[in-house]
Amino acid sequence: MTPTQPTAQDQLAQARAWQRDSSRVTVLSGAGTSAESGVPTFRGPGGLWRDFKPEQLATPEAFHSNPKLCWEWYDWRRSLIAQVKPNLGHFALAQLEQRLQDSFTLITQNVDGLHNRAGSQRILKIHGDIWWTLCLSCNRIQSDFRVPLPDLPPRCSCGGMLRPGVVWFGESLPTLTWEQARKAACDCDLFLIIGTSAVVYPAASLAPLAQSHGARLIEINMEETPLSGSADLSLRGASGEILPQLIDS
Ligand code: OAD
Repeated sequence: MTPTQPTAQDQLAQARAWQRDSSRVTVLSGAGTSAESGVPTFRGPGGLWRDFKPEQLATPEAFHSNPKLCWEWYDWRRSLIAQVKPNLGHFALAQLEQRLQDSFTLITQNVDGLHNRAGSQRILKIHGDIWWTLCLSCNRIQSDFRVPLPDLPPRCSCGGMLRPGVVWFGESLPTLTWEQARKAACDCDLFLIIGTSAVVYPAASLAPLAQSHGARLIEINMEETPLSGSADLSLRGASGEILPQLIDS
């Protein structure tokens, strides 16, 4: 007799039970979390701009060889993001934070600010924020929500050139934020990895790190990822549909 496979409903029920039993929860979110809001993911369809792949524009080399072109891409993405709204997945995570307070940590690879707009208060933005600018002369980081930006590349009040406040391919993650993310992975009993292809490091290393410190790992994704096999549960579907059910206690 072949053992019966658990149904999606069984898996969701198990995930809900683990969520209820967990006293410390850490989440890593990726671009899929914002897909239902209408923000294109990096590796899915619809993310291309003027035939460039993100890897061709999101690098220090691309910026230095053509800052205006690079900024035009960011200006396009900022305009797109400004028109969308957080979805039920973002709201569910904000609700979980309200419930668990300091026992909850949200780590995101997303730079779109939708977790903020859904009400999440403490967010470890390991890849930065598309609404931040960094001055190449005075190093000041500031928020700038203007859409579109009046001049490209934009300038700081000190006269220096601004760059987007995001982490590019080949750059290190912000040290303190990354350390806090690692600590939250080591200190939780449930780690949720949501809407990420789990191929970009070091972000993807947080899930196995959490597991090696005893946490259960639940993945929520439309598709299989390199981490699906090692997750304790892999919930297949849209985060905007699954997350509200997962946190409903
Ligand atoms: P990707 O575009 O690589 O992956 C998006 C993932 O979301 C895929 O695994 C999809 O199957 C999944 N997905 C799509 N829609 C979903 C939905 N509604 N619900 C749940 N899952 C869904 O995006 P990331 O993994 O976030 O880095 O990419 C990681 C990093 O690569 C980005 O932060 C960015 C990029 O280079 C930097 O900019 C430094």
